[in-house]
Amino acid sequence: MRILGIETSCDETGVALYDSEQGLLGHCLYSQIAVHSEYGGVVPELASRDHVRKLLPLVDELLNDCGLQKTDIDGIAYTKGPGLVGALMVGACTGRALAMALDVPALGVHHMEGHLLAPMLETSPPNFPFIALLVSGGHTQLVRVDGIGQYRLLGESLDDAAGEAFDKAAKMLDLDYPGGPMIAKLAESGEVGRFTFPRPMTDRPGLDFSFSGLKTFTLNTVAKHAQENGLPDDQACADIACAFQEAVVDTLVIKCRRALEQEHLTTLVIAGGVSANTRLRERLELALKKINSHVFYARHEFCTDNGAMIAYAGCQRLMAQQQEGLAVKVTPRWPLDQLSPI
Ligand SMILES: Nc1ncnc2c1ncn2[C@@H]1O[C@H](COP(=O)(O)OP(=O)(O)OP(=O)(O)O)[C@@H](O)[C@H]1O
Ligand SMILES: [Mg+2]
Repeated sequence: MRILGIETSCDETGVALYDSEQGLLGHCLYSQIAVHSEYGGVVPELASRDHVRKLLPLVDELLNDCGLQKTDIDGIAYTKGPGLVGALMVGACTGRALAMALDVPALGVHHMEGHLLAPMLETSPPNFPFIALLVSGGHTQLVRVDGIGQYRLLGESLDDAAGEAFDKAAKMLDLDYPGGPMIAKLAESGEVGRFTFPRPMTDRPGLDFSFSGLKTFTLNTVAKHAQENGLPDDQACADIACAFQEAVVDTLVIKCRRALEQEHLTTLVIAGGVSANTRLRERLELALKKINSHVFYARHEFCTDNGAMIAYAGCQRLMAQQQEGLAVKVTPRWPLDQLSPI
């Protein structure tokens, strides 16, 4: 079965073709970063309009790259939620209309299920059951995964997501949007230990997170530096970025270990934009080795939003005969543990 995947939940237009026999045939991505960067964050209406402009030409480009026609598509999967309602509507309407015209089944996919299953696109995918750390721009969640659609939420952020905290801390250091990769790059030249940031909620039991305090701590650190020594120079900014990243990474590592031990599992999957963070990957690999556990993640381009993860997740569900009627419905808020198993 050859599935077209469509991702339009936020500021990336992503399309991909996944074949149940041959694997991923191709994918194309258009990022709206340039559209939103002057505002320092995503402007929902601009995002919807840009998806309208880019989605169909991107599908044509994908088919052309793969040497295929629209009539070679056996099913369509589009992101149904969570996400920005207008942006989701563009993908859902286009996916539904294409499916109707081609007379193939279509299905709305949960964006976070897409992220969670993205490491399945790699050559050595993880086996169920595992713990997933979903760590992106809008989510920080620890989930027990027993199979596709069998998800139990173990803990989540009570306020900001880790990616959101990276983005906001970056703004305080005058870095461009999205801030995660910028902080990571700057932190490479930072001195570990010049500044020390707290590890929120690690001194109490449980698997929830809180990242908004780290944001305030960053703001206060910059203000204190400005008061005592003038505005932070390049080295001071790098040292603050380094301290911030270490605090987020340490916190995530501690909670991942705790989740694995609590659930008596030895496989961890990290997914979502922040899972592209090299320091997080290094630190998890080291920490998990000590408890005979292993960490799996997707290649960089499939950590942030993309069409391949939606095509893969949709393919698994469409092969299990799951599909939806003609009505175009999106679900901007959609808890992961409400999904049906296959
Ligand atoms: N190397 C990195 N280090 C830290 N953060 C990163 C890195 N690369 C990307 N990010 C962060 O990942 C986030 C984007 O990831 P993603 O595209 O998965 O999120 P989203 O789709 O906006 O949110 P969600 O998936 O929760 O709806 C941004 O916050 C970005 O700063
Ligand atoms: Mg995402």
